[in-house]
Amino acid sequence: MTRTLDKSNAHYRKALTRLPLGVASNFRFWGEDRTIYVKRGKGARFWDLDDNGYVDYRLGYGPAILGYADDRVDAAARAGMDVGGVFALSTELEFTVAERIASMVPSVDLVRYSNSGTEAVMAALRLARAHSGKDAFVLVEGAYHGLFDSVLWYADLSEWHPETSDAEPPVVAYSDGVPASTRNLVYLTPMNDANRLEDLFRRRGDKIAAILIEPIMGNCCGITADVDYVRAVRELCDRHDVVMIIDEVKTGFRVARGGVQELMGVEADISTYAKAIANGYPISVVAGREDIMRLFGNGVAHGGTYTAHSVALAAAQKTLEILDETSTLEDIAAYGKRLQAGMSRILDRRGIVHSFAGHPSMGGLFFAEEAPKTYRDWKTSDYTFYDTMARHLHDHGVICEPDSREPWFVCAAHDDSCLEDTLSGFETAIDLTIDELGRDDMRRARA
Ligand SMILES: Cc1ncc(COP(=O)(O)O)c(C=O)c1O
Repeated sequence: MTRTLDKSNAHYRKALTRLPLGVASNFRFWGEDRTIYVKRGKGARFWDLDDNGYVDYRLGYGPAILGYADDRVDAAARAGMDVGGVFALSTELEFTVAERIASMVPSVDLVRYSNSGTEAVMAALRLARAHSGKDAFVLVEGAYHGLFDSVLWYADLSEWHPETSDAEPPVVAYSDGVPASTRNLVYLTPMNDANRLEDLFRRRGDKIAAILIEPIMGNCCGITADVDYVRAVRELCDRHDVVMIIDEVKTGFRVARGGVQELMGVEADISTYAKAIANGYPISVVAGREDIMRLFGNGVAHGGTYTAHSVALAAAQKTLEILDETSTLEDIAAYGKRLQAGMSRILDRRGIVHSFAGHPSMGGLFFAEEAPKTYRDWKTSDYTFYDTMARHLHDHGVICEPDSREPWFVCAAHDDSCLEDTLSGFETAIDLTIDELGRDDMRRARA
């Protein structure tokens, strides 16, 4: 396949006159001559303005769990349109969907809706602070919890090298414009180090309201917490009166009906959901323990003009029904395993060491012998190889995130023809990457 992006490139130049970077989200800008504008999507594929077709493993960063334009969900959404939108009043369906969520996730007693993952996490943090009477909170290195100031602090590995430095990676703001004062309320900790967390809670537990954790890091190669670690976090939270917020914005209703909590046998105090809940219609959820959730309306503010919109709610009802009552999640995981096995065959034939992190439905591909256990481990992988491969994949009809930290998402519409096209594109992309990087870099890839 030789891809041309003439129409996308022309549109980019036009879009630049009215849209910063020519796009509606910074992450959608892929360079002046590689930014894609979508014409339409169906199932696991989409087509761009130049009619290039792609098998997609970004799926909008996870939401399209049943595939784009799923007929069943879209029919429900159309019926939701007939309800009338938003009334600044409630509808019966809010309760029906809340009942479904509570039946799928044991830690959920009560539910409130918002429109984006960011809003749900903001609400969760506010609740935790109100409940505990404390202001600080803990983030796990490598995690992403949305685009609000409080959580826009991260461990910067760009100048940090595990072989040469014992020092901690610096904590920096993810964006200009984040008030420096918000730094004082954040503690960062590496995944899978319970001793370190215990030490932090001992020293600062009187200030820490919550820990925000994604036990499978959906924005960091699918790096996965050990079950023992997550259980230790649970126990430490109980001991130090810290609210455990499990951010299931990516894992929720994807890795299992009850999300990552079901996989790991752990119950959060508060959970946040978005993405897969409505197959791409904008709705999110903050949910959890009754005593904490009842603080909404009893001191804690929560609301929003578009909250529980009738279209998004109807889409959520149908999507959750399908995910709960059919074998969809098992089918998605089975495809993910076949995909990983196919990739492994291609890489093994060329002697390229690799591993997979996360879950087959959202797996990170990692060019190192072992999957990372912390964000710092990601530094040991050959991400130059990944980045080069990703560009060639795009040219050959397979879409993954250009950044190696984003996992590959699978949906129910990925079928045999998608697998065939993916593996053929993958094989070509790997060979082109080897050609491009040459022998010296390949030696690094082979560790
Ligand atoms: C774990 C996690 N939390 C929160 C968010 C923020 O969600 P949104 O982009 O809907 O605001 C994301 C987005 O990718 C996420 O992956």
